[in-house]
Amino acid sequence: MAIAPEQTLQWVGDSKGHLSLIDQTLLPTQLQPADCHTVEAVWEAIKVLRVRGAPAIGIAAAYGVCVGIQTLDFCTASHAQLRQRIDEVTSYLATSRPTAVNLFWALERMSGKAKSLSEAEFSVKQIADALLQEAKSIHDEDRAMCHAIGQHGAELLFDGMGIITHCNAGGLATSEYGTALSLFFTAQDQGKELTVFVDETRPLLQGARLTAWELLRRNISTVLICDNMAAQVMREGKAQVVVTGADRIAANGDTANKIGTYGLAILAQHHGIPFYVAAPSNTFDLNLESGDLIPIEVRTDEEITNGFGRQTGPEGVATYNPAFDVTPANLIAGIVTEKGVISPVNNENILQMLQS
Ligand code: MRU
Repeated sequence: MAIAPEQTLQWVGDSKGHLSLIDQTLLPTQLQPADCHTVEAVWEAIKVLRVRGAPAIGIAAAYGVCVGIQTLDFCTASHAQLRQRIDEVTSYLATSRPTAVNLFWALERMSGKAKSLSEAEFSVKQIADALLQEAKSIHDEDRAMCHAIGQHGAELLFDGMGIITHCNAGGLATSEYGTALSLFFTAQDQGKELTVFVDETRPLLQGARLTAWELLRRNISTVLICDNMAAQVMREGKAQVVVTGADRIAANGDTANKIGTYGLAILAQHHGIPFYVAAPSNTFDLNLESGDLIPIEVRTDEEITNGFGRQTGPEGVATYNPAFDVTPANLIAGIVTEKGVISPVNNENILQMLQS
């Protein structure tokens, strides 16, 4: 049964409007919007993962610029004041999270849009309107890219397949079908029956709270497993493929994604199971030669010792909480983009696909 996609992000009103997003920290028990009327509220929503997932972070940041410039009166502010404010809000939003390159890509695109409009021809109000239009275009393009990723990637899936996925790369992490989950939704639209084993994804449980929720809403056979069960699932022959999303892909194909992805890729190789990444072209960072250069976010001790309101580690214990890891390109069978599947994964094939 087809159901309406989640409204992960929505702009409400005109250029003086606001961003409304599904507060993902409340899922799976409450489906509630959080309204962001200030750039600080957008920054906080990204920081604490009310909105998360690389493409959704980028879209939220683009709308964040539109919210941030509202401190100006568009009728009386000067072009210089607008320029200064755009610089302030983009620099500020860039400090929210470091790993997903879509954030920086979207902020650069918003600044670029403002710079492209001649101050002699466009009023401050017209530039503010154009920035909102640009954020909406980023949002719409993401929707289209996710659907195209699904079309290319569904070819890799066959009826009756068992799949393992990690974290959440679905509609909640993007604007609609998602990246990794788009393959499953599209395969389902084609009449294929799949069973998806969902890693719970410690410590913040994006797999359990978000991916399992999305898959169940779309009637896909869903089996929730703890992260440390994937090897056994593979060994028992229950999964024939692994598909995840990505937060940043270096020029050589090394891929940063949620912590635990690298281990899953090693397990897949050991069991002779292909490991695929699904991501739009704005998740590639061709400025970085390899994954060693990708900044990895390190989050707080409490996420490990006091997750979801219960103390699970002794007082004062040291922790290490990297939120992402890097899977080397040689463990990745293919990267599914909106333009097609890159395989084998190497510099040349990546460049060729992105320039096509
Ligand atoms: O910390 P998160 O929840 O933002 O991490 C998200 C992921 O790692 C996703 O797999 C990735 O962003 C791809 S989303 C299409």
